[in-house]
Amino acid sequence: MGGIRGPRQGQHFLHRIAMLKKNKFYITTPIYYVNAQPHIGHVYTTVKADVVARWKRKQGKEVFFSAGTDEHGLKIQNEAEKAGKEPQIFVDEISSQFVDLWKRLDISYDAFVRTSGQKHKEIVVKTLEELYKKGAIYKGIYKGLYCVGCEQFLLKSQLVDNKCPDHKTKPEILAEENYLLKMSVLQENLIKKIESDEFKITPATRKNEILSFLTKQKLEDISISRPKKKVSWGIPLPFDQNHTTYVWIDALLNYLTVAPDFFPPDIQFMAKDILRVHATIWPAILIHLNLPLPKEIYVHGFILSGGRKMSKTLGNVIDPRDLLERYNKDSLRHYLMKEINSFEDGDITEDKFKEVYNADLANGIGNLFERVFTMIIDYQIDAARNKKIDTNIKEWLEEADKQYKFYMEKYNLAEALKEVFSFVSQLDKYIDDKKPWVMRKNNDVKLEAVLTSLFFGIEKIIGWLEPFMPAKMLDAKNYVQKIKSGKISKGEKLNLFPRIV
Ligand code: MSP
Repeated sequence: MGGIRGPRQGQHFLHRIAMLKKNKFYITTPIYYVNAQPHIGHVYTTVKADVVARWKRKQGKEVFFSAGTDEHGLKIQNEAEKAGKEPQIFVDEISSQFVDLWKRLDISYDAFVRTSGQKHKEIVVKTLEELYKKGAIYKGIYKGLYCVGCEQFLLKSQLVDNKCPDHKTKPEILAEENYLLKMSVLQENLIKKIESDEFKITPATRKNEILSFLTKQKLEDISISRPKKKVSWGIPLPFDQNHTTYVWIDALLNYLTVAPDFFPPDIQFMAKDILRVHATIWPAILIHLNLPLPKEIYVHGFILSGGRKMSKTLGNVIDPRDLLERYNKDSLRHYLMKEINSFEDGDITEDKFKEVYNADLANGIGNLFERVFTMIIDYQIDAARNKKIDTNIKEWLEEADKQYKFYMEKYNLAEALKEVFSFVSQLDKYIDDKKPWVMRKNNDVKLEAVLTSLFFGIEKIIGWLEPFMPAKMLDAKNYVQKIKSGKISKGEKLNLFPRIV
């Protein structure tokens, strides 16, 4: 990290990158391509980052959470042309669909980067100038197989039946005069940083994949530009206007341009499809610039539907906007965070979604809250007074809290939620054992302690679930406050998660 230059050395924006990042926490999602509508996979990564951002803020961190859209390059140029629209108009339309969707899902980002925006473009130009001055970029001939779907050059060994395995299309054979970024000079350095977790890749299986790729072959210098004749929709290179910036360089720099004071990112979320670029080109740029690397890259699997990749032909596409029209946003956040394993491929179908909703939300927390609140109100228990908490509940609660924090710190949100729901089951069972309605009939003096202990447990659950279901937990918190202040009227129900039939 010693290479960051001090402010005395000039006016360059990179100087603003803070030496001290105390208490700051920087979290990113990928910036998504605007060639197509938002996908449930985009929702997954973004909600995950949002939950972590909310959790860190709750812990008192100063959080910067960035999101955005990736708007340049051949793929988007082609799509705009197909749609018969000017590229800028085309990208404006789709980018705003992402903004709308994030709003509907309560995504609490601090900045939304658009790579076609003026500020981003200016900083990309400055950064390229800096890399060029440092001798990290040179002019050469680049030959390779280019997949427009990936916006990447592929190795022969990556092809299946001569086709890109992800897009099932034949890559173009390109031999162009391009500008290249030196990669091979950094190879050893990069391997060391990944091996030692200075640049951490989670989970370990993904780290090992990258390490085995990096140790098996010599890294080739990569092309960072395309001839303007072919790709006009991009940022012109400052040192050669006949070339535009390769879309991945343009896109990766968003992480740097959006929050220099928070750099480097503490955590970057993405799926496995874009790990290699993030574990090679991205750190290479930073090493060339003498900047610190992100602390951690966290890689999840793909979301499938009915065990298969979503596709129009299979008719199994789950459109997030369609779900949001019919179901509550927090129930979608809940499904994705709990049912999709943090590292493996996961699955969503509407039937599964309903099943989980009814089990966890309607019959789980919805029912638990309702039962306890109703008894507290009906039996006129004073829930505000500080009481001694039942030792069983206290024990379960402390254990659940410990586990919850452990998993949250590791960003393993699915496991953290499972801890919360096993505490919910413990409370359900506690009610069934104690039978407060029988205690009430018998004028049992312990009734108050039982119900206030349950109430205390519920407040804890609300706190744990807040980052996951912010809107619903706010409703629950307000309702709890009303009970505590004695302002609740009999029959006033919370009705948090009505059953779906
Ligand atoms: N524009 C690049 C990223 C540049 S970041 C500097 C890009 N865009 S993308 O629109 O293709 O987004 C890929 C990312 O979207 C994945 O890494 C993942 O975060 C999310 N997902 C999109 N579909 C997905 C699934 N089916 N499953 C899970 N997440 C996937 O690559």
